[in-house]
Amino acid sequence: MANRGAAASGQFTIGGDLTVNRLGFGAMRITGPGIWDEPKDRQEALRTLKRLPDLNINFIDTADSYGPEVSEKLIHEALYPYPGLVIATKAGLTRHGPDIWVPLGRPEYLRQEVLMSLRRLGLERIDLWQLHRIDPKVPREEQFDAIKQMQREGLIRHVGLSEVNVEEIEAAQKFFPVVTVQNLYNLVTRQSEEVLNYCERARIGFIPWFPLAAGNLAQPGSMLAEIARSHTTTPSGVALAWILRRSPVMLPIPGTSSVKHLEENVAAAEITLSDEEFQRLDQQGRQEYQKQATGQAVER
Ligand SMILES: NC(=O)c1ccc[n+]([C@@H]2O[C@H](COP(=O)([O-])OP(=O)(O)OC[C@H]3O[C@@H](n4cnc5c(N)ncnc54)[C@H](OP(=O)(O)O)[C@@H]3O)[C@@H](O)[C@H]2O)c1
Repeated sequence: MANRGAAASGQFTIGGDLTVNRLGFGAMRITGPGIWDEPKDRQEALRTLKRLPDLNINFIDTADSYGPEVSEKLIHEALYPYPGLVIATKAGLTRHGPDIWVPLGRPEYLRQEVLMSLRRLGLERIDLWQLHRIDPKVPREEQFDAIKQMQREGLIRHVGLSEVNVEEIEAAQKFFPVVTVQNLYNLVTRQSEEVLNYCERARIGFIPWFPLAAGNLAQPGSMLAEIARSHTTTPSGVALAWILRRSPVMLPIPGTSSVKHLEENVAAAEITLSDEEFQRLDQQGRQEYQKQATGQAVER
């Protein structure tokens, strides 16, 4: 059978009209250390991006602040005019240096950043634009209203949110349909379970960031390592397979700056965990999360 690449992860339709393969790509890691400046190996970053369509990845997540600007520009250089691809970007965080992220949600700034992303990506409309953070210093209604206006003008096709709770999603829904939510989520980081369940009921795409993390569960001799061996994959491959199986609205976007890691990650789309493996991992992941939350020593 031909290798289906990311198509093996199944499909999800964002906002009723953008159908993508569920396993996507996060373009934050194609920048320098601290998500700042150019990547160490620019040619490899471009090769990684150019490999995406061959592997049937058609959903790419980026942001104005990755680099800043670097990630969007590399995507343009490697993939413009994006045949069959959905490019999702974000704004709402300013950068003052490596690893420094400061929210800014003033309407005029959000508008500027949408216009600048359009320019860098060479687009007239952004398919999926996400508010990177709700800025606590600016009334959220002002931020939502600015987004609503940009959607009305046709600068943005669909709107997503990032790092939000259910109450915030519902508040935003009064201004525009929320079609995706991008929150930190992986096997051992489970504080967004309630948000995920809400998204599943409402058919909102849930984009888990840092999906490959498995913490202590990935150590040699762990259950995860044992399951990985039986599927001839790596612990991060199993972590990804578990995430894909967790919900049909799940759209993981593992990120890498190397073709080798990209190919390994896509191979996870072909892994089918048994019900028993899925349940065992789920249980261990929840236990690990509880232990971390209560600060207990972590066992394997
Ligand atoms: N909304 C938000 O606030 C937010 C926050 C963070 C991230 N994100 C988005 O989510 C995406 C994913 O998040 P993330 O990059 O933090 O987490 P991730 O994709 O789970 O992990 C990326 C890290 O894992 C390494 N890696 C990737 N594939 C690997 C493999 N097969 N084997 C070994 N190591 C591997 C990468 O290094 P190499 O480059 O060496 O492969 C990188 O250091 C980002 O690209 C970004 O689009 C969003």
